[in-house]
Order: sequence, then C-alpha cells, then structure tokens
Amino acid sequence: MKNDSFTALAIVFSRFIPGEMEYYQSAPMGELLTHLGWSSVVVLALLLCLALAYTKLCHTRLLDQKSDTYIDLQASIKAILHPQNVSVPDLLAERARSNQRLVRALQLSNTFVSEKPDVHKQFVNRARRLLNTAEQRGWSTFQSIAVEAIQWYDKEPGISESGCPFSSLVQSTTLVVVLAGLLQVDNPIDSFSHADITLVTNNITTLWALSKKPEPIPSSFFDDLSSRLRLLVPDDKTFSQPLDFVVPAWETLWRVVATTVAYAQRDPLILKEFEYFHGDPSDERFRKGQNSEFSVKDVVFEAMRLHPPSKHIARVRRRTWCPSLITRVIGKVYAITIYESNVADIEAVLRCEVWGTDRKMFKPERHHQSIISPEQEKALTFVFGHGPLRCVAASWAPMAAAVISATIMAHLERESYILEPGRCIGGREGWNGWKVRRNSF
Ligand code: HEM
Repeated sequence: MKNDSFTALAIVFSRFIPGEMEYYQSAPMGELLTHLGWSSVVVLALLLCLALAYTKLCHTRLLDQKSDTYIDLQASIKAILHPQNVSVPDLLAERARSNQRLVRALQLSNTFVSEKPDVHKQFVNRARRLLNTAEQRGWSTFQSIAVEAIQWYDKEPGISESGCPFSSLVQSTTLVVVLAGLLQVDNPIDSFSHADITLVTNNITTLWALSKKPEPIPSSFFDDLSSRLRLLVPDDKTFSQPLDFVVPAWETLWRVVATTVAYAQRDPLILKEFEYFHGDPSDERFRKGQNSEFSVKDVVFEAMRLHPPSKHIARVRRRTWCPSLITRVIGKVYAITIYESNVADIEAVLRCEVWGTDRKMFKPERHHQSIISPEQEKALTFVFGHGPLRCVAASWAPMAAAVISATIMAHLERESYILEPGRCIGGREGWNGWKVRRNSF
C-alpha cells in the first residue's frame, strides 16, 4: 500500500476521534476514500474481522472449554479467577456484577457485591481483625463457646424422642458460635432467643434460594431477618450491617460442619479421632491423628472436597468488541461493550481424575502427607477460591469447622443422641430425613 494511502486511512479514522486531527476533518469523505482506494478498504476490513475473530478465539479458548481433566480444569479456574493482566479493581467489578442478586435478596453491601477497592480494603481488613482476635483468644475459648452453643440449643427447642432436624441443630449452633466466637457479640449466649436464631438461619437460606429466581422477592423475608438479627447484634456502631459478615462466615461454615458430622457418624474410627481432638483442640491434634491413617484435618478437607461450599464461582467480565490495537486507534468511545459470564468449576476439579477411581468415595486417608500428590494439594486450595480475592479465612475456617463438629459429636455421644441419616448428604438444602433424636432405650 502506498504511503499516502496510510495518510488517507488515518484521516478516515480521525473522523471518528473527537477533537483530533481537526485539520483533515474538513476533507470530504468521498474524496478520502477515492484516494485510499476501495480495494484497500475492503482488504483492511477483512483483516480486521480476521484479527477480531482470532483475538476472541484465543481469549475464550480457556474459558469455554468443557474438558474435565485436571490440567484443563485448573487452567480454566485460574483464567476465570485470576486472569493475566487484569487489575484487582477489574476483578472486584467482575465479582460484583455476578453477585448483584445478593443485593436484591439480602441487601448486602460488602466486597462480594461492591466493585469499590476501598470497600474491599475495609471489609477484608475488618474480617482479618475478627479472625485474628478469635485466634488470639485461643481454640479452647472457641471450643467453650461451641459447647455453650450446643447446650443452649439443647435446652430449647430441645431434642425429644421424636427428634429435631439435624440441619436446624447445626445451623443454629454454628450461628451462635459465629456471633459469639467470631463477631465477638458481647451478650451472654443464654440471652439469645431461639426464635430469633431460627428465623435468621431460615430466612438467609430462603433468600439465598430466592435470589436465584427471577420472581420478585416479598420484602417481609428481609425485613424480619434484618430486625431479628439486630436484636442478636445490637451494637449498630460496630456492625451497621451485620449480614455483611454473617453471610460469608455462617453460610459456608455450617455446611462444612454438617457434612463433617454426617460422614463421621458412619465411621467409628473417625468418631474416635474427633473425640481425641475434642480433648485438646490444638493445632497439633488437628494436623496429626492419633491413628496412622488420617487426622481430623484430613476428614474436614475430605468433607470440603466432596461438598465444597462454593461449588461454582462466577464472574461477569466486560469485554470490548474491538481488538485492543483498533480500540487504541479509534478510541474506546466507539467500541461495543459486551458482558460474558464465566463459571469456575470448583466442584469438578475436586472430583476429577487426579483423585483416582475412588474419587466419589469419602476417604480422608487420601489426604495423608505420604500419599497426597502436588496436583491434589493444588486442587484443594480452590475450595477457598484463587488469586487476589481468595478467602481470608482459608487457614482459620477448617480448624473452626473441626472444633464445632467435634463439639456436636461429643454432645450427641454424651447425651446418647442418635443421628438418623437421610437419603443423601445435603448442601444448602437437601437435608430432609436427617434427624437427631433421643435414644428411647
Ligand atoms: C469453610 C468455610 C469457608 C469457605 C469454603 C470459604 C470460601 C470462600 C471463597 C471460595 C471465597 C472467594 C470468593 C470469590 O472469589 O468470589 C471467599 C472469599 C472470602 N471469604 Fe471465605 N470461606 C469460608 C469461610 C469464611 C469465613 C469464616 C470468613 C470470615 C469472615 C470468610 C471471609 C471471606 C472474605 C472476606 C472473602 C473475600 C476476600 C477478598 O475479597 O479478598 N470466609 N471465601
């Protein structure tokens, strides 16, 4: 192409760039195109389309794949949660876009739904402070809170011969532990109203489910939730919106506790291990079992492997339709913005081929230091997300879940309660049939 064709091309483009190359903008378009030559324009347009298609293909290759091999799954998770050259503010925006349903249903205002870096900074710092304080108070203190919480639950509604739903026991006990042990609510545990705790747990679960449906959500669910939670967390200066902390902490923890207790009840060796841990909830007993095959930590991680609280982590990415070179030339003003939704499949990487042919089975011994492979260890880290927005409680939460689980198991054992299994191990819902009842003999 001749040099003056480039000049003409620049002039054509300059017409779309406000305030630039004013001198040339007065030239008639027909004259410019004639100068450039129609054939060159067609060739350029074709090249542009090819470049566009290629860029789009390269970019979405990782995201669109449906392969279920470890290599592809972990690459896809990384590409979605921590893509190269994407800044933290952009990552926050991608997460916030995908979580807007939680604003509609639960009126959250934390970093999960906000794209603002200062909201992220403040929220994460605050969460870290709560976790540090809980850790400094020690695991024995945390355990005492869990013991008080299960005794509080057992007083009323109490566990009769006809029994109580297992999920309700775990949800209520865990919420009390989160309030007293993590949020450090000052009120004595005995002062918590059972009706308030039950309403809060039920309404969070209901609103979470409703957030996934397009229908309007009756405002009474949130209004009741908010007013009852305020009675439980009266200090509105420290916690102006307690749900912002309760939801990420309680919503994940209670499900790990429920799954751990459910699996443990099937296996006397696991129960024995938790009994030993309950005798001294130290980091050492958490990591190193009494038996040679597995530890309490291995049981909790196996529970999270088969039933990760965050099975899928979504992001809504903003894309400009123009390849970056052209965007730079003609300015972003004329680029078309599209949004694409991608989902990091955490559940799949925790059940893929690296876990062997028995990957669907609950086997805590697979986590033993002498057996676990580097790929399996890496896959497990995804339970808490990946990249700069990964969970700040990743090292605290498994131990906390173990302490609460061990306390529940010890209470069932001491009171000779029976845990009756349902048809399958649930998630957020699906614990139908699971019951704790008094032994009638
Ligand atoms: C077993 C329990 C838990 C699991 C499985 C879990 C899982 C996760 C996951 C997957 C993420 C990343 C979300 C994303 O990328 O969109 C996350 C983020 C986060 N989690 Fe957890 N979580 C747990 C417990 C907790 C607890 C107890 C807290 C305490 C406050 C907490 C606080 C947070 C915070 C603040 C973030 C956001 C971090 C950031 O944006 O930089 N999590 N969690």
